[in-house]
Amino acid sequence: DGDVYKYYADGEWKKSSSGKTVAIINPTTRKTQYKVQACTQEEVNKVMESAKTAQKSWAKTPLWKRAELLHKAAAILKEHKAPIAECLVKEIAKPAKDAITEVVRSGDLISYTAEEGVRILGEGKFLVSDSFPGNQRTKYCLTSKIPLGVILAIPPFNYPVNLAVSKIAPALIAGNSLVLKPPTQGAVSALHMVHCFHLAGFPKGLISCVTGKGSEIGDFLTMHPGVNCISFTGGDTGIAISKKAGMIPLQMELGGKDACIVLEDADLDLVAANIIKGGFSYSGQRCTAVKVVLVMESVADVLVEKVKAKVAKLRVGAPEDDCDITPVVSESSANFIEGLVKDAKEKGATFCQEYKRDGNLIWPLLLDNVRPDMRIAWEEPFGPVLPVIRINSIEEGIHHCNASNFGLQGCVFTKDVNKAILISDAMETGTVQINSAPARGPDHFPFQGLKDSGIGSQGVTNSINMMTKIKSTVINLP
Ligand code: G3P
Repeated sequence: DGDVYKYYADGEWKKSSSGKTVAIINPTTRKTQYKVQACTQEEVNKVMESAKTAQKSWAKTPLWKRAELLHKAAAILKEHKAPIAECLVKEIAKPAKDAITEVVRSGDLISYTAEEGVRILGEGKFLVSDSFPGNQRTKYCLTSKIPLGVILAIPPFNYPVNLAVSKIAPALIAGNSLVLKPPTQGAVSALHMVHCFHLAGFPKGLISCVTGKGSEIGDFLTMHPGVNCISFTGGDTGIAISKKAGMIPLQMELGGKDACIVLEDADLDLVAANIIKGGFSYSGQRCTAVKVVLVMESVADVLVEKVKAKVAKLRVGAPEDDCDITPVVSESSANFIEGLVKDAKEKGATFCQEYKRDGNLIWPLLLDNVRPDMRIAWEEPFGPVLPVIRINSIEEGIHHCNASNFGLQGCVFTKDVNKAILISDAMETGTVQINSAPARGPDHFPFQGLKDSGIGSQGVTNSINMMTKIKSTVINLP
């Protein structure tokens, strides 16, 4: 019936007073795998209070000590990679090897953040007044970066560990406290990760993890007066949060419809390999997945054949067996994907494979000759279904890309670097990859979405800066 997990507050593991739990359904078996506490609003209030208190003394803890604890947490996390990866396999059906990679990458991210933090937070600015017109050198300004207070971190199901630590580590190194609300699918992996921070010996109340139903504590958390900053990664919920949140900094990453533009001179083997990796890894459940291929008509037949050949080799099945294509996260997600496939079928897309589904498992599907009137031309399936739109000019490709509400990443394949840069400049996305599939990492690179894809910029350095504020002290000379 599923193991029951406690939530983490005040440095302790606790049962909710609600007496209720939330079930985590294994996407593969479609049975309850684990249960987590359905925390109450009262419990959220208490967590916020301890977070506020703990932050005050944490901000006074020397930077090198904060870094030392983070390095310790990173090492413990890596030691625990096997049990955490097992949870990722059971909760979100992440292929076994990718699950291990997620945990190791997270440990590296924590260490890197600690190192980056001691450097950039160890420096401030010194300004003199007489560079501005009308002033004598009578004022010296000293600036430093101070923490914001309590950071609320809400990561999505697809990287419940990695996208949690990418918020936790910058928050902590900068002297903030942190309240984590993990996604329900992925909550137990996140609780295990939090346990590593617990073992590292962070002060009580500095980190807490509340679990529960979004309907009960979602708005309550995001609109809570005790929250000084929200870092969210996920879907449309982020837009709703941004409308309801108070006057606090927001960091948001909300998905994308990343285009892969293929020019006539592209290395088509390289393109095909990147379409497979970009479009189908973790069954397309990445916001940076390739979600539409825009290929020049003259090379489209050859490219589609190459991709088809590679799709045929993808292993479809259980995450435990490290298959390439595994069940999507939930039945409702599978139903949504199926809706997009049916719409494309009715409107005449060419099916390069037969559409096949068993429970939440959807076989990889390439749809050729997709046209702009099909939903899949614009919506993100978050599944292993990839549309190909044939274009007759570069302008047509850029136009399709820029007509999207999203603007996360995009990629362009060509041997002509001048054309690639012109296309990159014309694409309204936060990042453009030249000759490779979109990706967030390496994790110190800036990561940002334009339009409905997000607010602000992530990446280790940007996240640390975003979770601080500048404080000035001005010395006035006689
Ligand atoms: O979907 C989450 C987004 O941050 C993607 O990360 O590493 O798969 O490019 P990545």
